[in-house]
Amino acid sequence: MSLVVFPFKHEDPAVVRRNLEVAAQQGSIEAVWAVAAEVGASLEQVEAIGREVADVSGRAVSVFPQERLGDLRPGKGDGMNTALAMAAEHDFERIHFYDADITNFDASWIEGAEAAADDGYEIVRHRFPRAATDAMITWMVTRPALAMTFSGTILPRLGQPLGGELLISGGVAKALAADGFVRSRSDWGIDTVITYATAVMGAPMYEHNVSTGKRHALYGSLDEIRDMLLECLDAVRSLAGKPFPPPHARFAADPPAAVPEDLKSVIGYDVERTTALLVADWTDEESDLARSIPGDISSHVLVNRDTPSFEFMDAAAWGVTLSWLLGSFRLGDSNWESLAFRLWLMRVLSYTSSEVPKGYDNAITYLEEAILRYEQAGPAIV
Ligand code: LAC
Repeated sequence: MSLVVFPFKHEDPAVVRRNLEVAAQQGSIEAVWAVAAEVGASLEQVEAIGREVADVSGRAVSVFPQERLGDLRPGKGDGMNTALAMAAEHDFERIHFYDADITNFDASWIEGAEAAADDGYEIVRHRFPRAATDAMITWMVTRPALAMTFSGTILPRLGQPLGGELLISGGVAKALAADGFVRSRSDWGIDTVITYATAVMGAPMYEHNVSTGKRHALYGSLDEIRDMLLECLDAVRSLAGKPFPPPHARFAADPPAAVPEDLKSVIGYDVERTTALLVADWTDEESDLARSIPGDISSHVLVNRDTPSFEFMDAAAWGVTLSWLLGSFRLGDSNWESLAFRLWLMRVLSYTSSEVPKGYDNAITYLEEAILRYEQAGPAIV
């Protein structure tokens, strides 16, 4: 029997209720856990929801706060690791993880993952179409960095390496719970580290396509995901020098399906408010760091101390810049954090202004082709 885990923070209670209900109603599900990022009103509200869902469904629904397990900012990683540590003490056959804020969560997510697990896949990752300007950390940082670092393996091929939606076998959960590298990653970097750790185990892996896409609240200014960007950059950087996933592990994926028309026109973030972030509050130290970006990229970057400028940050310039960041970036250093965030904004704004206007299909093809080029270039891109 299976367990479903939802890490949550301050989600819309109606969405959380619906998601707990969906999970508790599935025949294959024995228990549902909701793990809160912090104690307080939100936890109490979800505890009340959990009691009601348990009464109606007759399933074990537990709502509890995460423990402090890792070494970095206490965040989503502590939540997932708390659930992994607890699950390792039970004998669940399978464990599902879902972000609590998915507004189109339904039985098909659980059934699709269970069907692949029935076919012998120990890791089932959900993948789904996203708006052309959503997933900007995935497209601009995580996938390119995995492509450069682990070229020729399954890691660059995974559609959602930052995805929090996956199924793992009880055995994989026990192995993750015992892995100190995973446990220490308490922040937004957890998804990257779990993606790597499960790939390197070499267990059979499947990508299940949710063709309706993942619907969740989109962003205003990209400032809202600044911490996520920095922590995901640090997480992928922490994989440098680690072993490659084995080449012959069993891997399969659902074929791509048609993308819903409404998703094709969704705007993922506020361009005007994001552009304003390029010029704000440069320090002398940040300018000095920017001077060591290779080639002529640094002079283009430094224009942003006076005027927003991002057109130059095309896929090739970004490959050099990202490779440089992977070698030098320091999480926790405010000048490095400010510069890395700004460089990523330049890349996202450049892509948004040059490729997104040509239409959804063009944009996604362009992004996929860039990943292939980064993979071909490998770590020697600078
Ligand atoms: C991503 C985050 C931003 O996948 O949702 O890039």
